[in-house]
Amino acid sequence: MENQEKKPVIYSGIQPTGVITIGNYFGAVKNWTQLPEQYDCYYSIVDLHSITVRQEPKKLRENTKNLLAFYIAAGLDPKQNILYLQSSVRQHAELAWILNCFTYMGELSRMTQFKDKSQKHGENINAGLFTYPVLMAADILLYQTDLVPIGDDQKQHLELARDIAIRLNNEYSGLFKVPEAYYGKVGARIKSLQEPEKKMSKSDENVNAFISVLDEPAQIRNKIKRAVTDSLGEVNYTDDQPGVKNLLDIYICSTKETKEQALEKFAGQGYGYLKEETANALIAELEPIQKEFARIVADKAYLEEILKENGQKAAYNAEKTLRKVKKKVGFLEI
Ligand code: TRP
Repeated sequence: MENQEKKPVIYSGIQPTGVITIGNYFGAVKNWTQLPEQYDCYYSIVDLHSITVRQEPKKLRENTKNLLAFYIAAGLDPKQNILYLQSSVRQHAELAWILNCFTYMGELSRMTQFKDKSQKHGENINAGLFTYPVLMAADILLYQTDLVPIGDDQKQHLELARDIAIRLNNEYSGLFKVPEAYYGKVGARIKSLQEPEKKMSKSDENVNAFISVLDEPAQIRNKIKRAVTDSLGEVNYTDDQPGVKNLLDIYICSTKETKEQALEKFAGQGYGYLKEETANALIAELEPIQKEFARIVADKAYLEEILKENGQKAAYNAEKTLRKVKKKVGFLEI
């Protein structure tokens, strides 16, 4: 990256828990593949965040490898994007501690995700779950990030990261870039197939509510066939028909068609046809990625090398920020 102008920095991350859904793909990763020309992109696998909910070690390792292989298979080139493992860059945990001392209990108590998760995991309301957004702020601020592509559910966390950055900048001046949310051009928010008012979630108890990017064609057809629609029997793109709208979004994201083209195609057709064509399009979109995934995930040495190399690059840049922070707060440099 020498003798190049510095591009704005983009940072985002996904937790290596559960399966990777088509919501992760269409809402995030697919859009990220368009960015490295204009931005310096960091995409982390946020394993430190994932242990705020109990994980089985073997599963966590497997999910981590799968997510990295998926990033690459979906088109994120590890030479053009810094794809790395959060836990391999010690600066994250270190900065998070410092930021913890500048974040108020009241602020963290107001986080809706904390409230939701502590209800869901009542037996394990650990301190990490509470300070989760501080670690996320550290992720973002370490790299002097300009833009953060996130879903609506993470807006409040990003807002907090901004508040923390501004707070430290006021006290010590010029420490952090204050990040902003990035809204991509496409970025459809894929909804649950069973309750289309809700976001598609990999932790949904009903497996028919989400589609994994690794699902087999037969599973995809089956889940789409069972997708909840409505009794109107007309294909429109409107919030009054959230199930149909969601299928149209999946169809549009899987093809190169515009909304208008899709609506024309489905005008006067029943939901059976919409579902069939949506399943076909999605299967065709995922097929090459699944093939590539299978090839990459089998190559352990390659994956390890990428994590090592990219982790070192990330650490180098993270250290610059961390050193500055430590100095400004008054730690002796040794
Ligand atoms: N909390 C985010 C989520 O669950 C994941 C995440 C961790 C993240 N650190 C981040 C996203 C930094 C963007 C930037 O979706």
